[in-house]
Amino acid sequence: MTAGKDPIPPYFNIDPAKAAARLSEPISTARFAKAAAFAAKGRQDLAKRGYAPDGKKRLRRFSTWEICKYLIPVAPAHFRRVLKKYPDLPQGVGEGNSKWFTLEEVLRLRQHFAAEGAADREYLPWRPKGLPAKIVAVSNFKGGTSKTTTTAHLAMSAALDGYKVLVIDLDSQGSLTSIMGGDVPDEWSTAFPLLAKDYAQAVQGENTVRAAADLPPLPFDETLTEALNTRARDIIQPTHWPNIDLMGAQLNLYWAEFQIPVWRMGLRSWSLWDALSNALSGERILDDYDIIFLDTPPALGYLTINALAAADILLVPLGASFLEFDSTGRFFDMLYSTFASIEEGENAVRRADGLPEVKFEWDAVRALITRFDAGQQTDLANVIQAYFGDFMTTYRQELTAMVGQAGEQVNGIYEADYREFNRDTYVRGRETFDRTWAEVKELILGTWYRDLQTSPQEETDNG
Ligand SMILES: Nc1ncnc2c1ncn2[C@@H]1O[C@H](COP(=O)(O)OP(=O)(O)OP(=O)(O)O)[C@@H](O)[C@H]1O
Ligand SMILES: [Mg+2]
Repeated sequence: MTAGKDPIPPYFNIDPAKAAARLSEPISTARFAKAAAFAAKGRQDLAKRGYAPDGKKRLRRFSTWEICKYLIPVAPAHFRRVLKKYPDLPQGVGEGNSKWFTLEEVLRLRQHFAAEGAADREYLPWRPKGLPAKIVAVSNFKGGTSKTTTTAHLAMSAALDGYKVLVIDLDSQGSLTSIMGGDVPDEWSTAFPLLAKDYAQAVQGENTVRAAADLPPLPFDETLTEALNTRARDIIQPTHWPNIDLMGAQLNLYWAEFQIPVWRMGLRSWSLWDALSNALSGERILDDYDIIFLDTPPALGYLTINALAAADILLVPLGASFLEFDSTGRFFDMLYSTFASIEEGENAVRRADGLPEVKFEWDAVRALITRFDAGQQTDLANVIQAYFGDFMTTYRQELTAMVGQAGEQVNGIYEADYREFNRDTYVRGRETFDRTWAEVKELILGTWYRDLQTSPQEETDNG
């Protein structure tokens, strides 16, 4: 045996004097500006070297194989016969039997099959006429639980299914906005002005009352005046997906977290939690879409409260780990106390004024296990499942290398070209998100159906 000495771990024998000598002067706020300026320069440099996504995102084409397997339930031979019979239909590009189609073309083909194809096949997804879009919020105050990934994949699977989708990014990190290739120069292209507009309208109402009582009006600044002139449809932008639109986010949206409580202090009767809801229903955005997905920041701030109050369905993604289970339990606790205290505060006033009481209600709430590793986490996931019971989806969204390795241009499984992966990896990776969508779609269809039963007016609308 050699008598070689084991090296001592690196955290022993640190000399305090030398450590002090290596330090810079204490950091003042100005130093952050310098760091930001350097990062901006570095960003330009990286962009020049081709690291940044340049310009517009483009959605890839879809092959005959994919269309027949995943998008339109027809056999490939029949699909080819139909294309031959109707030369006006999109014919696709490429050599041989496998043609490639844009999603616009797939949507057109889908319409054709729905009109001409077998009556017992589901070519178009079910959607009751006359009912508003379903709003699905994806939320958890724990960070990194796959909120954004889940939202993006759900939006894309709903779009592939043929639904018209709006995604609203309420996280000032803007990850969902980047995935959707959004262009958001400042807060005026985010949900911020819609929230401001709701407050501005409340102030206008209050000022009419005050004028009648000879009281001085509440202040009305430039932001509020400008907000009054913004419309949700001007903020919503198209994306590289023909049937997904985006209301984006960027850093300045975070300002809403400071501004909303200040507004509320100025006017206690303003229902700050209803601002987004009011914007979506007041401007009839709910009639333009089938499904609206809301991605929220990892916090229970005012933006998240607005998302939750607007939502019909709430999804709470969490990993199958002790810490994520624990903090998700607390999240439910916070949801309870936040919304119960709003109800209590409001209803005290409303009872006194003889007004109907507010009661928050969701069509369905589901915790959803994400990034699941069956080899390591099955026991823990089973325990979590037992405690959440029917508050939890039955399917666990699996960890897949295909999400992690998404490049700048391609995000997630539905945008990736299957030819770049081993076929089994692709099929399994895709299946995990398809099954999440299937479970969420079941909730959406079920709640629409239930609405139809309880809404006699809509039944007459449908003839
Ligand atoms: N099924 C999956 N397989 C592998 N990696 C995944 C999967 N789902 C999410 N991830 C990865 O986990 C990380 C966190 O995901 P994501 O950004 O969606 O979480 P988040 O909850 O939106 O985070 P934040 O709280 O910061 O908004 C990302 O790097 C994402 O690529
Ligand atoms: Mg996120």
